[in-house]
Amino acid sequence: MLEIGARAGQSTPMTDPITPKPAPDQANDATTLLTAWKAAQAKLKTGRIDSPAIDARLLLEAASGASRMDILTDPYRVITDDQLSAYEAMVERRLKREPVSRIVGKKGFWKIMLNVTPDVLSPRPDTETLMDVSMLAFSRNEAFEAIDLGTGSGAILLALLAERPAAKGVGTDISSEALAVAKENAANLDLNDRAVFLRTEWAAGFGDASFDLVLSNPPYIPTDHIATLDPEVRDHDPHLALDGGPDGLQAYRDLAPEVKRILKPLGVFAVEIGWDQGPQVKALFEAAGFTDVKIIKDLGERDRVITNGPDPRTNPIPKD
Ligand SMILES: C[S@@+](CC[C@H](N)C(=O)[O-])C[C@H]1O[C@@H](n2cnc3c(N)ncnc32)[C@H](O)[C@@H]1O
Repeated sequence: MLEIGARAGQSTPMTDPITPKPAPDQANDATTLLTAWKAAQAKLKTGRIDSPAIDARLLLEAASGASRMDILTDPYRVITDDQLSAYEAMVERRLKREPVSRIVGKKGFWKIMLNVTPDVLSPRPDTETLMDVSMLAFSRNEAFEAIDLGTGSGAILLALLAERPAAKGVGTDISSEALAVAKENAANLDLNDRAVFLRTEWAAGFGDASFDLVLSNPPYIPTDHIATLDPEVRDHDPHLALDGGPDGLQAYRDLAPEVKRILKPLGVFAVEIGWDQGPQVKALFEAAGFTDVKIIKDLGERDRVITNGPDPRTNPIPKD
């Protein structure tokens, strides 16, 4: 049994960069946001979970309905027994290496919040490199048409449409369950009038030279490596979203000629890659007929995107 319901007034001194008000007089057995948070942090730390303070806070927000600001400015707020039970159950799930995004059913990407389910990849910060390229390639008020191949939760397409109000786009996926999540996210973000989602193999069914921007974050993990991934990924992301075939490159072999076919002559494409796949994927897109193909690094200085578009690491990113 978890002991995260530590009692108010019995917590250890705080080490967080916040200065709480003194604890008000309250019943000795009341559990507060602060005592619950501290006890959960200790539990996650003992369970060797990365970033225990952040994970414990995100779970506390979900279980108690308190915001991050509430937790920092009103730490002695008492939480109910039901909230505490819900929090304890969430912390137990995290200790079994279920990611926070799966437990709370939400994940932030770029500037939007998305619902996520076991049917979709939990969007990653690495994928925001595709956004950096797109922001540079198309200015804020430009009208253009984009497609996101293998859209999953809709993360890339919806983040793009939220930033570019005159753009329209299509998201495709082979998984109808993933597409249901993407459609729900589009509706929640009020983007469903500009986003269409279709079940198909990559770009099958779309005409030649249809799009100004083609984006994709396909599966790129070599099949044999999947068993070696962290449990958060291996056991909780759909294998359809991870498995790139024996050498991890199968999706790029399928995608390169399709991207060439559906992209307008002056269009831009950008695909995410694994950090060690740059030269091979660049060669596949060159073989499909693209010139000026570049390898773009992510903010961690690792190869992350192949594109014929601008390099955000050497060009200023527009501020609007
Ligand atoms: C790595 S996930 C990316 C999801 C999302 N775009 C993101 O970045 O968070 C790859 C997606 O490609 C989809 N997919 C796999 N094979 C596909 C295929 N042959 N045609 C279309 N989509 C496919 C998977 O279902 C999955 O949603």
